[in-house]
Amino acid sequence: MSEVHSFAPGRVELLGNHTDYNAGVVLSAAIQMGIRATGKKRDDSRIVLTSEGIDGTATADLSKGLQRRGSWDDYPLGVVEMLRQAGANVGGFEAHFVADLPLGAGLSSSAALEVATAVLVTRLFPFSVSPLDLAKICRRAENEFVGVSCGLLDQVSSIFGRRDHVVFLDCRAESVEPIPFPPGFGLLIVHSGVKHALTGGEYNERRDQCFEAAKRMGVPALRDVTTAQLEAAELPDLVKRRARHITGENERVFSALAALRAGDGDQFGKLMTASHRSSMENFANSTPELDALVEIAIRQDGCHGARLTGGGFGGAIVALTEIEKTDAVAKAVTAQYLEKTGNRATAYPCVAGPGALETQQ
Ligand code: GLA
Repeated sequence: MSEVHSFAPGRVELLGNHTDYNAGVVLSAAIQMGIRATGKKRDDSRIVLTSEGIDGTATADLSKGLQRRGSWDDYPLGVVEMLRQAGANVGGFEAHFVADLPLGAGLSSSAALEVATAVLVTRLFPFSVSPLDLAKICRRAENEFVGVSCGLLDQVSSIFGRRDHVVFLDCRAESVEPIPFPPGFGLLIVHSGVKHALTGGEYNERRDQCFEAAKRMGVPALRDVTTAQLEAAELPDLVKRRARHITGENERVFSALAALRAGDGDQFGKLMTASHRSSMENFANSTPELDALVEIAIRQDGCHGARLTGGGFGGAIVALTEIEKTDAVAKAVTAQYLEKTGNRATAYPCVAGPGALETQQ
């Protein structure tokens, strides 16, 4: 059989931090950078995986079952395992991956790897599945095979991203809607140079604290609580602060939807900066480097707001910039950050790009 290809982009979370596993709402965008996969079927039951920039070959044998190994190939192997559990008839194949997405920047290289694998494998071994179910299969690979309890945001953004659009995901309704990006605005992602690793315990700890808050409030998820209700409740201070981030983020997402529908980029940017403040004060998932980047970015002419993006605890910030000023903002931010912290940041000017679905059409 001839070769098949797939592409899955990384994503940038724009608003709605840590809301996805609380049945909440999120705004994100797919970015131009991502992971490309090329593959072909084999005549036996072996899976042979290679990746540019990583030495060696990862192999597995479907007839012996797939096990987690604690290396990069857990992501593609996890997807294969979950596809099989969902009923796909997957046989042996070879795949080669090429990424132009910075790893550990909080831009979901893991979801891009999962989605690139899922699309490639379902092309090699046709299996009828809706795009949302494919996202859920990828998420299960990460939750159950790799062992990271992430929500659905990353996989949905990588699949449903649309050029010049923000992706609105409602995790309770399980609905996805593209909303036009504010005209004249672009995105600037700046990686702090300090890696972020979701396998660290902080992510799961925050998740547990959110679940504890919901339980104490007597609701299925924090989505069911407004900030006003939260403030009126008797909760331990730490749990209340964590929950305040989630209720505030959900409310900011709904305000941002109104701003986006009115084409008001400036208001959207202000909500992004408010989100970062809440990360600092309530959720404690920022770092001094991310705080420095945000403070520097929002001082620049042409930057309308900035916040950390993704899980936090390292990684990158995202800023909303006037398109023609983006390069100047990028230059100023990296220079001033170096001066202030001694760290080298990398800037990636971006626009909302197509997701894996749109790429294939
Ligand atoms: C990571 C997770 C997502 C989401 C974000 C925070 O990116 O993978 O599911 O929880 O953190 O919003």
